[in-house]
Amino acid sequence: MVDTLTPVLTKNWGQDRAWTLPAYEAQGGYKALEKALSMAPDDLITAVKESGLRGRGGAGFPTGMKWSFIPQDNPKPKYLVVNADESEPGTCKDIPLMMASPHTLVEGVIISSFAIRANKAFIYIRGEVLHVIRRVQAAVAEAYAAGHLGTDIHGSGYDLDIVVHAGAGAYICGEETALLEGLEGRRGQPRLRPPFPAVAGLYASPTVINNVESIASVPSIVANGPEWFSSMGTEKSKGFGIFSLSGHVNRPGQYEAPLGITLRELIDLAGGIREGHQLKFWTPGGSSTPLLTDEHLDLPLDFESMGAAGTMLGTRALQLFDETTCVVRAVLRWTEFYKHESCGKCTPCREGTWWLVQTLAALEQGKGRESDLDLLLDQCENILGRSFCALGDGATSPISSSVKFFRDEYLAHLTHGGCPFDAAASTAFS
Ligand code: NAI
Ligand code: SF4
Repeated sequence: MVDTLTPVLTKNWGQDRAWTLPAYEAQGGYKALEKALSMAPDDLITAVKESGLRGRGGAGFPTGMKWSFIPQDNPKPKYLVVNADESEPGTCKDIPLMMASPHTLVEGVIISSFAIRANKAFIYIRGEVLHVIRRVQAAVAEAYAAGHLGTDIHGSGYDLDIVVHAGAGAYICGEETALLEGLEGRRGQPRLRPPFPAVAGLYASPTVINNVESIASVPSIVANGPEWFSSMGTEKSKGFGIFSLSGHVNRPGQYEAPLGITLRELIDLAGGIREGHQLKFWTPGGSSTPLLTDEHLDLPLDFESMGAAGTMLGTRALQLFDETTCVVRAVLRWTEFYKHESCGKCTPCREGTWWLVQTLAALEQGKGRESDLDLLLDQCENILGRSFCALGDGATSPISSSVKFFRDEYLAHLTHGGCPFDAAASTAFS
């Protein structure tokens, strides 16, 4: 951790054994749970609504509103599922959060489950990060031993069990309904929505699915009040978030800051772009969000401003590339990723991502024709809005935005008969 402007979620990250229960409690941990258990569940939902917290997994759906969709007159059990399947290229906030401060998540899960009247919660963690799974399991075991979990929590009459579930390493299982399929023991492929999980989710029961960072923000909102949270950020994008900076920046890492901070300010915090180089392009929220360039350095990083700029705030995964990077090559790498991760359920994405790779690879090797650029955009148009889930749409984002800003660089590959970047000077992915 380098610098943070709103040290809440990242407050204890640098401390010795911050992930243990004694360290967390010494910093006031589980006090918010005590307060929450003395409140009416509906008042907790109202507090989260008033705070303005919006989903931190990428889409920015209002968290309190999602909780209020859970039909309390439905006799079926209610579930809380934490989406900890963080896999978006460049996104690295939930995994460090769970490693450094798993009890912030566990406390958030207990409060959130109490608010929606769920007696069972699941934390679905991507399977590749065994060390994170073990750390969260250990925190859950500590919470049981201390009476924060289990039957009649702190004499409140409220019961909750948490199951930590390991995914099997598919990007698509971060899509909430594919995640539910996986949790139920089936192949991870998205379900038709509606019905949304809030109405018919896990085992066809009302289910709230929230991202790790969203749930980890809840204890601080309960402890400090909704006005405290909504006093930070912008008019419609309230509070703070973790921004992950990677690529050609001097001090990559996670920076916690109010929403609405600009990339220029974040780059300053991160020690600047590496010496002697300039920013060329960047992703605001991972590779599924359209690319931006150095013209966009002063745009506020909030949901509205990013939308107005033709992109999305997404997961705040800021991947920065300087002028030594070949944009065509970078985009080809991302597209190969989407092709590999396509679950195969729908034709536009299953077949389309294969075609995108073929066309891009030909262009990158200088073997294509100028008309292939139009073909590439046409392939994107046939995927965007026609795919079953957001993966297909996301696959087109880096392509169409890079052609918009760097058409000449694509054409230069054709005139050059290959990548015009000098192999020695280029640090593009190799
Ligand atoms: P979405 O906008 O369709 O839904 C967002 C959330 O709101 C979901 O939980 C959904 O159930 C709920 N919702 C939306 N409308 C609703 C309604 N009418 N009633 C009840 N609930 C409703 O977005 P989606 O497809 O779930 O996620 C796409 C986002 O995921 C992208 O913005 C992308 O940034 C992000 N993403 C994140 C990744 C990561 O690793 N964190 C990986 C890939 C994508
Ligand atoms: Fe599967 Fe891709 Fe279709 Fe989503 S868009 S359902 S990942 S094939």
